[in-house]
Amino acid sequence: RLRPMSEAGGASPAPVSASGWSRSWGTSGNLARVRRMSFADHDPDVGEVLLTADDIQKRIVEIGAELTAAYEGRIPLLVCVLKGSYVFVADLARAIDLPVELDFIAVSSYGSSTRTSGVVRLVKDLDSDIAGRDVILIEDIVDSGLTLRYLRRNLEARNPASLTVCTLIARASADIESLDVGYVGFTIADEDWLVGYGLDVGQRYRNLGYLAKYVKPDS
Ligand code: PRP
Repeated sequence: RLRPMSEAGGASPAPVSASGWSRSWGTSGNLARVRRMSFADHDPDVGEVLLTADDIQKRIVEIGAELTAAYEGRIPLLVCVLKGSYVFVADLARAIDLPVELDFIAVSSYGSSTRTSGVVRLVKDLDSDIAGRDVILIEDIVDSGLTLRYLRRNLEARNPASLTVCTLIARASADIESLDVGYVGFTIADEDWLVGYGLDVGQRYRNLGYLAKYVKPDS
């Protein structure tokens, strides 16, 4: 979601401790309980953990149950918006007790700052025809709503039977009602910038199991 203010001068991340990792894995037997990967513990740009892996998984189980009830008897098509949503959709799909199908779409907004610019373009289209399908669009975060507005317009033109939006995170200032977002995992404060669980800075941190505040270089 965020792009780095500068690629220059960043310290190399410390290597993941093999012993620490295997100890976490061995005692819990559950990746969701691993609170932090060690490389981020040594990264000054990664701050307070806002949502632990457990927090996220508990909420996903709730949303999954809601979607299971709402789409009973149907085969919804989960549309994952690459790249940020790839972690969320992997967990959410497994929390839905229905024969869901998956497809992937990628969009890009022009610009290089930490704020979204005004133009969205399609980078990778869906493989499937969504006409007559019950589509659930999966986002990791709704920030300005620009991406979602574009995708809704684009997908609705293909005549799905229904189109619902499910986002893990919504920024407080995002107009969830007018954007018609059906399912929201968590709402975050406007001043918070997050990394982890699919959200990146300069393509890094997506593999963190939790969501942490990103300490912006200029803050
Ligand atoms: C992020 C996120 C949303 C979009 C939300 O994608 O995944 O798609 O921004 O921002 P908006 O509401 O202001 O439009 P990004 O462009 O960072 O790409 P990524 O998913 O590949 O990280």
